Amino acid sequence: MRDWMKMAGIRSSEITDQRVFQKRRQLLQASVAAGMTGLIAGSAQAKSESVPINGTIIKSPYRAEEELSSKKTITTYNNFYELGTDKGDPERYANRLETKPWSVVIDGECAKPGTYTLEDIIKPHPIEERIYRMRCVEAWSMVIPWNGFSLADLIKRVEPNSKAKYVAFETVVQDDLPGIRRSVLEWPYREGLRMDEAMHPLTMLSMGLYGEELLGQNGAPLRLVVPWKYGYKSIKSVVRISFVESQPDTSWNLSAPGEYGFFSNVNPDRSHPRWSQAKERRLSGDAGGLAALFSSKVETRFMNGYADEVASLYEGMDLQKFH
Ligand code: MTE
Repeated sequence: MRDWMKMAGIRSSEITDQRVFQKRRQLLQASVAAGMTGLIAGSAQAKSESVPINGTIIKSPYRAEEELSSKKTITTYNNFYELGTDKGDPERYANRLETKPWSVVIDGECAKPGTYTLEDIIKPHPIEERIYRMRCVEAWSMVIPWNGFSLADLIKRVEPNSKAKYVAFETVVQDDLPGIRRSVLEWPYREGLRMDEAMHPLTMLSMGLYGEELLGQNGAPLRLVVPWKYGYKSIKSVVRISFVESQPDTSWNLSAPGEYGFFSNVNPDRSHPRWSQAKERRLSGDAGGLAALFSSKVETRFMNGYADEVASLYEGMDLQKFH
C-alpha cells in the first residue's frame, strides 16, 4: 500500500487493481466498437477461426526447403503456459485470450517511447512469408510459414540510443487465462535478446502464419520468432518491448538457470542437463498430438541450420558456457 493512500485513510481494497481497471476499459472500448450489440465478450477474444491476412504478402528469400508442418499440427500442438501446460491446452483455451484492443508499450532507451496500437506497429511494414525451421528445447521441431516482418524495422522506427544494449519483451497477463492462476513460471512471461540479435534480419515479429492471422494458441496478435534459438525465446502475445542497458531476466532462466541460459542457441553439441539435443522429432505434415511420439527423428543442426547467417554474432564466445 502506498504511503499517500495510508495518509489519506484509503484501504487498498478500495483501489481498483490496475489490471482490472485496464480490462474493464478494454471491454468498454470493445463494446463501443461492437456497436453495443451484446457480442462484447466474443468481439474481444482471440480468433478461433481462420481470418486471411489483409493485403499483399511478399515471399521472402528465407525459405527452409523441408516439408511444411500442417496448419493443424502448428495450431494444435503448442506451448503457451499461460493457457496450460498440456500441448492441447493452448488450442482448448485460446478463446479466453482477449486480443482486442491490443497495444504494445515501447519504452526504455529510445527516442520514441509510447503506447502503440497493433495497427501502429504493423501497418508501416510490408508483410512477408518466411519459411523457418523452429526447434523446441523439448527436441521436436516444425517447419512454419510465418507472416510478418523483421523486428529490426520496428526498432529503427523508435530510434534506440547507445545505452540500449538489450531488448526485453513481456507477454500479456490476463487473470482469466487458466495457466496464470498457477505459478509454473513467473508471470509475465519474459524474454530478451542482445541488441545485435534483435537487429538481425532473421528475427521476426509475426502476426500470422499460412496467410492467416495468428490464432490465440500461436501467440495472437503479435509474437516474436527467432529461428536459430530454442522455441521458448519466441515469446507470444507481446505487450511490452523495452530497450535496456543490462541483460534482462527471462522466465525460463529464472525458473531453472542451470537448464535454460540467456542465449539459448540451438546446439546439438550441448546437451540439456536431462536429455540430449543431438536429434529432434520433425513434426511434418499432420504429425501433431500422439503422432508426435512416433514421427521420424532428424539430426539437429548447429544454430538450427542458420549458422551461415548468425554464427558471426557469437564469435569468440564459449558456447558451452554462454548457452
Ligand atoms: N510465450 C509465452 N508467452 N508463453 C509460453 O509458454 N512458450 C514458448 C514459446 N513462447 C511460451 C511462449 C515455447 S516453450 C515454445 S516451444 C514456443 O512458444 C511454441 O510456439 P508454438 O506453440 O507457436 O509452436
